[in-house]
Amino acid sequence: GPADNGDIESVLLSETEIGAKLDEMAARIDADYEGKDLLLVGVLKGAIMVMADLSRRITHRDVEMDWMAVSSYGSGTKSSGVVRILKDLDADLSGRHVLVVEDIIDSGLTLSWLVSNLRSRGPASVEVASLLRKPTAAKVEVDVRYVGFDIPNEFVVGYGLDYAEKFRTLPYVGTLAPHVYSS
Ligand code: PRP
Ligand code: MN
Ligand code: MG
Repeated sequence: GPADNGDIESVLLSETEIGAKLDEMAARIDADYEGKDLLLVGVLKGAIMVMADLSRRITHRDVEMDWMAVSSYGSGTKSSGVVRILKDLDADLSGRHVLVVEDIIDSGLTLSWLVSNLRSRGPASVEVASLLRKPTAAKVEVDVRYVGFDIPNEFVVGYGLDYAEKFRTLPYVGTLAPHVYSS
């Protein structure tokens, strides 16, 4: 559309579709965490939109928010599974019910490392909510309790997801036109 300069090939998930899915996810989270405290852990930066829109749909009131920034390092552009903490949580996890909030699970390596790291801190529970999941995630053992959409293995941007730090602010999830990454 005109707002994206032709860089978006197609809209995969509209703002309305995303909102409806977050309604369902929040309802399940409300039911599952009834009577428990809940700590939402957003993974910067991609998860910011999901965190903002999912957390506001959770009606359960005993909820806190915290953030982590992690970085995979290795030679390639793909996640190596070896992860470095750039910003750690402020919260102490002992005895807490932790729900990791992600935008997308691609190889699953980031999440797999993160979940075992968080589990080592003595929480009462660690679960994961991700708006998107790619088929490649099946190769790694990560149990994701709340998945919004299983999507094809295409490069997607928007709604927090970037290509070279661009496109995060789009309100929808779209596929990137090939001219953007081939130039
Ligand atoms: C992206 C995405 C997930 C992760 C998924 O983050 O937001 O956090 O990659 O990839 P994986 O399943 O293959 O590990 P990225 O490292 O690009 O950082 P960002 O959130 O700041 O964009
Ligand atoms: Mn991310
Ligand atoms: Mg990224």
